[in-house]
Amino acid sequence: MEKPADTAFSVHELIRRRWSPVGFDARTVSTQTLLTLLEAARWAPSSFNDQPWAFLVATKENEAEFRRMLDCLTPGNQLWAQHAGALLISLARLHFAHNGQPNRHAMHDVGLATENLALQAVALGLQAHAMAGIDVEKIRSSYHVPEGWEPVAAIAVGYPSAELAHLPEKLQQRQMRSRSRRALSEFVFTGRFGESLR
Ligand SMILES: Cc1cc2nc3c(=O)[nH]c(=O)nc-3n(C[C@H](O)[C@H](O)[C@H](O)COP(=O)(O)O)c2cc1C
Repeated sequence: MEKPADTAFSVHELIRRRWSPVGFDARTVSTQTLLTLLEAARWAPSSFNDQPWAFLVATKENEAEFRRMLDCLTPGNQLWAQHAGALLISLARLHFAHNGQPNRHAMHDVGLATENLALQAVALGLQAHAMAGIDVEKIRSSYHVPEGWEPVAAIAVGYPSAELAHLPEKLQQRQMRSRSRRALSEFVFTGRFGESLR
């Protein structure tokens, strides 16, 4: 299933075709495939090349591990993410490795790595759906997250599907709803904040 963006300017197909599904088919996502996605994440740029990211991974092939990670999501996210082929949790190191100073861009850089991962997923016929709805304290204790690392988001990875009978009505509607964005004029400014470029 595809939900390409209706863009105002022509952009790369990978960007156009990336989206956040709530319906996935039954295929699992192999460790090999996940490692390819994470290799894409690895090559993201980062402030001082600090690479302030880490990813916890659970594939459907290991049911117990998948269930353990699923339990770290909010109930609303568990509803649909249980059908994904794999789950990940991203974490940020909040201080630079080279000097221990606070890294104000750690979250930014985890986001860049995550988008690299998401675009590589599209290239392989998959989609990656990020989630803020996580239980941060549960993640900390369940995965023995060391001090200085902050759980950022969960990411469901899988093959999107239009076969949605197993999902509640609201989620079925969400899967079919068209995608939208604010106009460029609302967030691209020149001269002063709020003054639109075009
Ligand atoms: C950091 C982040 C957190 C998100 N949290 C959730 C979430 O907890 N649950 C959910 O269903 N979607 C979540 N989303 C998905 C967004 O709702 C989605 O990206 C947005 O509606 C745009 O849709 P699109 O990705 O299909 O273009 C999150 C996305 C991001 C980037």
